[in-house]
Amino acid sequence: MLAGALPSRTQPKLAFVMVGLPARGKTFIARKIVRYLSWLGYRTQMFNVGSYRRARLGSHQLHSFFDPGNVAGQQARRDVAMAALEDMLAFLDEGGDIAIYDATNSTRERRALVAARCAEVGLEVVFVESTCNDPKIVETNIRATKARSPDYEGVPEDEAVRDFRLRIAHYEKAYQEVGEEEGPFVRIIDVGRKMVLHRIQGYLLARVVHFLLNLHVQPRSVWMTRHGESAFNVLGRIGGDAPLSGTGRAYASQLANVVRDRVGSTVVVWTSTLRRTIETAEHLELPFRVWRALDEIDAGVCDGMTYAEIARVMPHEYEARQNDKFRYRYPRGESYQDVIQRLEPVIFELEREQAPVLVIGHQAVLRALYAYMMDRPPLECPFVSVPLHTVLELEPTAYGCDERRIELPPLPVSQEEIRETMD
Ligand code: SIN
Repeated sequence: MLAGALPSRTQPKLAFVMVGLPARGKTFIARKIVRYLSWLGYRTQMFNVGSYRRARLGSHQLHSFFDPGNVAGQQARRDVAMAALEDMLAFLDEGGDIAIYDATNSTRERRALVAARCAEVGLEVVFVESTCNDPKIVETNIRATKARSPDYEGVPEDEAVRDFRLRIAHYEKAYQEVGEEEGPFVRIIDVGRKMVLHRIQGYLLARVVHFLLNLHVQPRSVWMTRHGESAFNVLGRIGGDAPLSGTGRAYASQLANVVRDRVGSTVVVWTSTLRRTIETAEHLELPFRVWRALDEIDAGVCDGMTYAEIARVMPHEYEARQNDKFRYRYPRGESYQDVIQRLEPVIFELEREQAPVLVIGHQAVLRALYAYMMDRPPLECPFVSVPLHTVLELEPTAYGCDERRIELPPLPVSQEEIRETMD
């Protein structure tokens, strides 16, 4: 079982097989799928054939290695591709739910080989093809990722770019688009400008396609903060719909300064339906969108209580929560697992939005969004540190996300912060 993974579900195993010329964003898409499905609780892993090649044959292969006329190169590439495939099948056999096979798989012959091996073990395969003929996009991708890849470590950028273009040319000679007779596929054209679907059926695939529809490569940051300290925070009470405290209002005005100076007025602001986030947003003097999906975890019958009261009045509930904070569901309320499920539309919108986004939310909800952005296992969600009066700036990069935290005075002195350090 993978670290932090959830128990397997009773669903057929599935492999997404990437297809596309080099520098068409396959690994970017593959990583996004892995992150999304892992966040939803599926044990998902990517198998990148380029990494297998580097591990087995060394990094520095010249473009001629990829020439279809290079017989020894072809055999070596086939061997590493098959090794990655066997590891992928082993992962699924040993409890994995979904795997992504990340390689060019650029010919019908190679895809047939992969599909036949998967069929032998009864594995469903969906091809995810990324095509792009816009030279500007391809060039940007080459410069942003490939020229800095371990394949070209220590090689001057121009030389790396020249060699990589020759590598692409070798693949172009033999490239064949996925055909309908090959099975289900999703074809993403020009970074999502257009999409072609063939035999995509079922709820999970529909969700993945919906997710893919929203992806873009526009650089922008996602900012997150909890609301300013509320009157309930001061009392150490959970849930409720209390207004901001005086300290909370002062934070909201500090936040407005930071947003004005560092993000600007193009920022898209989202809040929950609860007073404390709305009152925080009002200080920005910008339009904002109110989402019920961003409401704090529903504490059910414990809403309005302090943790000390829960421990005293409902010791079994308190203990159950301590034992499994991720799956624990408050009586007539929610668990972290439930919160993740209801945040899915927010994730789609977060992916789709091209302007900077500021989410003014609540602790549990921001923990779940943070876990998605930073690709952390869902089980870690309840333990992510998201203190009051701290702004998180998350900046997606080609294959990950950078993080910066800004603590703003006035820092809260509420009981909740004291309690949190013990929780
Ligand atoms: C690689 O070796 O970088 C990928 C090989 C391939 O998928 O064609």
